[in-house]
Amino acid sequence: MNTNGKNQTESIEFNLLTALEISQIIDTAMRAPSVHNTQPYKIKFLPPDKFEIYGDLSRHLKVGDPSFRDHLASIGAFCEGIRLGLQLKKIVCQITYQDSPVSPEIVSNALREKTDGTNSDIHLCATINLMRQATSLEIDSNDLELGNQMTKRTSFRGIFEPVDDRTFLNVSTDLNALENIVIFSTKKDIAHIDAIYSAETSKINSEKRYVEELYYWLRLKRSHPRWSFDGLNSKAMSLKPLEAATGQILMKPQILPILSKIGLGAFITSESPQIRSSSFIVGMFQPHSINPMDTGKNFFHLWLHLAKHNIACCPLSAAVDSEAGQKAILEMTRQTRPHWTASHGRFMTLLRCGFIPEGLKYRSPRRTLGEIIIEK
Ligand SMILES: Cc1cc2nc3c(=O)[nH]c(=O)nc-3n(C[C@H](O)[C@H](O)[C@H](O)COP(=O)(O)O)c2cc1C
Repeated sequence: MNTNGKNQTESIEFNLLTALEISQIIDTAMRAPSVHNTQPYKIKFLPPDKFEIYGDLSRHLKVGDPSFRDHLASIGAFCEGIRLGLQLKKIVCQITYQDSPVSPEIVSNALREKTDGTNSDIHLCATINLMRQATSLEIDSNDLELGNQMTKRTSFRGIFEPVDDRTFLNVSTDLNALENIVIFSTKKDIAHIDAIYSAETSKINSEKRYVEELYYWLRLKRSHPRWSFDGLNSKAMSLKPLEAATGQILMKPQILPILSKIGLGAFITSESPQIRSSSFIVGMFQPHSINPMDTGKNFFHLWLHLAKHNIACCPLSAAVDSEAGQKAILEMTRQTRPHWTASHGRFMTLLRCGFIPEGLKYRSPRRTLGEIIIEK
């Protein structure tokens, strides 16, 4: 646990939980996935029984996420982490989302800011009320199973080991019970997704503003002051030391967009071998009507379900960030999911999946509790 956080919560008394238990719940909820590992949230205790969850605009991706979809999904996943953590402690809670967590005013202010984390505003996204000790009927065994996966789930961006048939069958059965999920498992489909992803990443890597923002969150050298706290470090990206050193130079915003425009970007950023090593790729479709924070919750659930089977994943969001990408992936599901259309919803992401080779599992860094807890 982050030792910093202990001091932050020592003075806080809850009827249902000790300060130490609250720190543990927050610490575990922070294992939730967040876009570029930005962890764009803050949390406030209102004793005796309420949390407020805020979005942190200094961590919003202004270029990559102008619609705030990924920002809110990351916060939704964190909120769900708190709920699952409370379930593990047998506490019933009620989560209430803010009606408009990102008002038009917040959006325009945030998008006017530069991409260097200078906007320190926070915005209320949800409140979580601790209700009571759960009765045995209120304890959901599915939630407990998923909650226990929170500290085990990780991203893996290297070459996968293949998943055996039996595990694949179990995973498929488990995921088929979830709504709006599709599994692509033929070599042909995986190769097609690889081609779509490569084309889409090469387009976005041609944009200097996008690369500037990505580079800000990369930590390619261990000497980076934020290596152990947030963003994407070279270990989390499964880069070998030479690849990280080359990336440090060639992924610079002054260089990568030029290389991408002349068709050479893929030599530095290609993920084809990793994508093609996937045993299967899971697509997550969400209706437009869904609250973006619930998308984050569903995404986290999906990932925890996969973790239950020891399956490691890496999202391929760039494949579906553009309209062209959405269209191409929707086309792949036209036969099996004819009701999935662009007017009904969109793919939130695709997850490439497989087993992690022995010894390569890595727990990506997190901020300290002290950084995310707001003192009264
Ligand atoms: C909305 C959202 C989109 C994401 N998109 C990508 C992606 O396109 N590529 C990727 O490698 N990781 C993606 N991630 C995963 C995060 O980078 C990852 O959760 C974060 O680095 C923390 O690492 P961990 O999942 O290993 O705990 C995404 C996460 C979220 C919440």
